[in-house]
Amino acid sequence: MTKRTDILIIGGGMAGLTCALEIPEEYEVTILSKIGLPTGSTYLAQGGLAAVTSREDSFEQHLRDTQKAGAGMVDETVAREIITMGPDLVNTLSSWGIRLEGANGDGGGMEGGHSFRRVLHYFDQTGRFISEHLADECRKRNNITIIEGAFAINLITASREALSLLQKGCDRCLGAYVLIKEDVVTFLARETVLATGGAGKTYRYTSNQDSSTGDGIAMAFRAGLPVRNMEFYQFHPTCLFHPDKRNFLITEALRGEGARLINKDGKRFMEYYDPEQMELAPRDIVARAIDSEMKNYGTDHMLLDATHLSKTFLEEHFPEVTSGVASVGIEPWKDPIPIVPAAHYCVGGVVAATDGATEMTGLRVIGEAASTGFHGANRLGSNSLLEAGVMGMLCARSLGNGPASRIEALEVRGWSFGRAEPLEESVLVDHSWASLRSVMWDYVGIVKTDKRLRRALRLLDVLAEEVEEDYWTLLPTVEQLELRNLTTVARVIVRSALKRRESVGLHYLMDCPHTSHIKTNTVLKINM
Ligand code: FAD
Ligand code: SIN
Repeated sequence: MTKRTDILIIGGGMAGLTCALEIPEEYEVTILSKIGLPTGSTYLAQGGLAAVTSREDSFEQHLRDTQKAGAGMVDETVAREIITMGPDLVNTLSSWGIRLEGANGDGGGMEGGHSFRRVLHYFDQTGRFISEHLADECRKRNNITIIEGAFAINLITASREALSLLQKGCDRCLGAYVLIKEDVVTFLARETVLATGGAGKTYRYTSNQDSSTGDGIAMAFRAGLPVRNMEFYQFHPTCLFHPDKRNFLITEALRGEGARLINKDGKRFMEYYDPEQMELAPRDIVARAIDSEMKNYGTDHMLLDATHLSKTFLEEHFPEVTSGVASVGIEPWKDPIPIVPAAHYCVGGVVAATDGATEMTGLRVIGEAASTGFHGANRLGSNSLLEAGVMGMLCARSLGNGPASRIEALEVRGWSFGRAEPLEESVLVDHSWASLRSVMWDYVGIVKTDKRLRRALRLLDVLAEEVEEDYWTLLPTVEQLELRNLTTVARVIVRSALKRRESVGLHYLMDCPHTSHIKTNTVLKINM
């Protein structure tokens, strides 16, 4: 079956939905999401959205904080553009009913690395508030169709599927093959926008939802696009540690209100690592400090002490955290919270401009799946909702400049199932998932060594061979396709980490502890 639309948006988080809502209504927009909306990392965001809204704050100061956190690798032009678009995004969100605390210049939250209380929020449920409103607003629009349970498998490109269309020296994206139930539908579009989020599920412990499997990054990489700086995977320092509960984020905003990191002797250990900024140092520093203390003590967690705050304050300002930890019997006004760092944010991604434009005509990449250069070597907290929203707006506004022409006449090959058979032993996929995530956690974590990275690559190469074999011989299932994407992303992360011969920002390589004075990007392409 073939479906046609003007603009195909793959992903229904902050980036995809903001983009859809900003596209002029004469365009037919189709949003695909592999799981029901509201969804994605957006839904889970707690801290908020960083934007300059107070007269006492300034774009220059926000820029300096972003550059400092990004360890000197931030693209200044890109950062300036995104930061100065912050107030436009805040007003646009407000026009859709999303009014955040701090939007009028006071009441913003504080997070590590920020020199001003500029984190606009809705209690500690910012992501849920934003994504529910965005999804509701999209459902009201006549030009937007949302298809949930639609899993994009591969991009359709002129060079592979419609050779006659291939323009000289320039490939073109024509849409995507999409798994809906057991069928694979061919979606054709004038423009395809990947807004598929990050890849936290590459690691055993992650703050992300199960859907964060790096699908868009893997799809773009397979289609020949350059992927940049994937060695910079951000670990959030404070996720709940509990043997039976999945990693649950304890927002940095709690540290912004004075919560302290302590070891099991009750000692505040950040003074050994960053005596000036202490718990509000950038995340790479705090996560490495926790990792180092855990190794020194031979324990699997540290503690976050918020007991100086009252029950009323915590319940009122941090309902998400308070109810989350209460579900495992912790009363944060009485007990320190056991925490562990967990994979949180993919700083690298598909090389894209701020409006999502990529090397390939007809393909945009926005939000966490993209690498614009905004975050440098480490993302400043709450800068990603800002980036995702601004990219969504810029992408929509630039798409709206073109003619609303459909690609009615185009014909491409349909998906071929060949002689594929159903997967009979799901243990094969389950085991590979578990080993991939363990390899990444054990060998490609917060602190890396060449030896561990090389070992990881060898193991992942073997896994990739098996996964490819399954891809070509088995009927497609979501689990198997996600595993394939995770394998692609994991190998790119390891290869990028091996390429960077220095330690900078989120990339700490014990064999090369120095920081190079020449700033370089790690760029990988499929045949490199
Ligand atoms: P997402 O919101 O992750 O959305 C991805 C979408 O793509 C989903 O709809 C998913 O279903 C869809 N999708 C993926 N693959 C496919 C496929 N193959 N086919 C079809 N659909 C697909 N950032 C901040 O700035 N402030 C915060 O306070 C903050 N808190 C966070 C808290 C947590 C726990 C986490 C995990 C992240 C947090 N972040 C925060 C980061 C931020 O939430 C994300 O970077 C941002 O929301 C990403 O938005 P996105 O639209 O790019 O992707
Ligand atoms: C948090 O609330 O600590 C997460 C903020 C972010 O990841 O930007």
